[in-house]
Amino acid sequence: MKKLVTAPHGLHGSLTVPGDKSISHRAVMLGSISQGKTVIHHFLAGDDCLSTLAAFNAMGVKSERDGETVIIYGNGIDALKEPAQPLDMGNSGTTTRLLMGILAGRDFETRLFGDASLQKRPMKRVSEPLSHLGARIELTDNGTLPATIHGQKLHGTHYQMQVASAQVKSALIFAALQADTPSTIIEKLPTRNHTEIMLNQFGANIETATDQKTIRVVPKPELTGQTVEVPGDISSAAFFLTAGAIVANSRIRLERVNLNPTRTGIITVLQKMGADLQIEALPTDGEPLGNITIATSQLKPIQIEAEDIPAVIDELPLVALLAACADGTSSIRGAEELRVKETDRIQTVVAELRKLGVEVEELTDGMIIKGRRQWAINNDQLDSYGDHRIGMMDAVAALKADRPLQLANADAVSVSYPGFFQDLERLLGGDLA
Ligand code: S3P
Repeated sequence: MKKLVTAPHGLHGSLTVPGDKSISHRAVMLGSISQGKTVIHHFLAGDDCLSTLAAFNAMGVKSERDGETVIIYGNGIDALKEPAQPLDMGNSGTTTRLLMGILAGRDFETRLFGDASLQKRPMKRVSEPLSHLGARIELTDNGTLPATIHGQKLHGTHYQMQVASAQVKSALIFAALQADTPSTIIEKLPTRNHTEIMLNQFGANIETATDQKTIRVVPKPELTGQTVEVPGDISSAAFFLTAGAIVANSRIRLERVNLNPTRTGIITVLQKMGADLQIEALPTDGEPLGNITIATSQLKPIQIEAEDIPAVIDELPLVALLAACADGTSSIRGAEELRVKETDRIQTVVAELRKLGVEVEELTDGMIIKGRRQWAINNDQLDSYGDHRIGMMDAVAALKADRPLQLANADAVSVSYPGFFQDLERLLGGDLA
């Protein structure tokens, strides 16, 4: 059990959050399938991205890591070797699903397995669409890991996606790169586009139509190693943005945060709820980047619908927490994807908010939350249930409590933010006026 801190005097100061998780994964993957050296700065050395790095090492890719700097020595996709052992995906859905797309077109067989949470998560959503390119992937009868990927020669396709998922889209793009003819992938809703942006930086030809949903992949590009500056992860910054908004007397600046519009749903939500927030855009060669300053304010309720979801998918637990402090009733709908994250995040968020004394109605596709200025905490024992984002949401909620609360399974935070509790402590002693 970890004792969580309260913040009776608010949070103050500036923080550079760790590198973006999605971009860190992709930088390792693209470096590993390109020719030459890739240098990654501000790499997120969390458990998930280390699972990706270890998987490519096991397929013969040489790399060096010194803290947040990683160098990958790529020899092209054809140099990947059959791993001697099944590959351990740990807790990482992104590693698993994106790798399926890369491995589907190799000339060897790979087995993938993961931890108890990952082995419950749906993988047919990847294997089925990949089969349209000729991929052959075996899953359990429940459509879960362990998986066996029988590498095949792949063919171009025209595929309409059934789920709004950047992981499924990225797997399809990786497979389409290895096909004999071009492919078109049509998304259900636009999702994060880091794969497309970074592949083009490495030399591929991926075109996104003006509808932001139709993606054309030209196969067999020559990919060349690059330098990648990973921006701060808005999904990690979001914990402090939320804390800054809801904990009285706070003012926090988050520096060099990725502002790719496919990821900034939390900023839109905060603005709509009336948060006191400023954004300072910074010059960049790559993805949009900026500093975000937030100060405490009384929030208004919000209504979230299906089309809002992809840009805020990982921050929905925090949206629920913001709603729990707002003046009025908020709703999150069209968010059934939350049920298949590291935990069923509809169930786990509802359970945690109820411990705070917040009235929440659980819906199949979301929740209805009655905000209140003062919670009536009825259970001091919070729980991450092994889910990093739920653990950090709990720690943010606990800042507002009138006594220290406890967190079970706190070490789950290392999946995406190993230094989270230290950074939080720093803001408790910070001095941004
Ligand atoms: C991710 C995509 C999202 C997100 C996950 C990371 C990615 O998952 O929730 O944390 O890096 O592509 P889905 O594609 O399943 O929505």
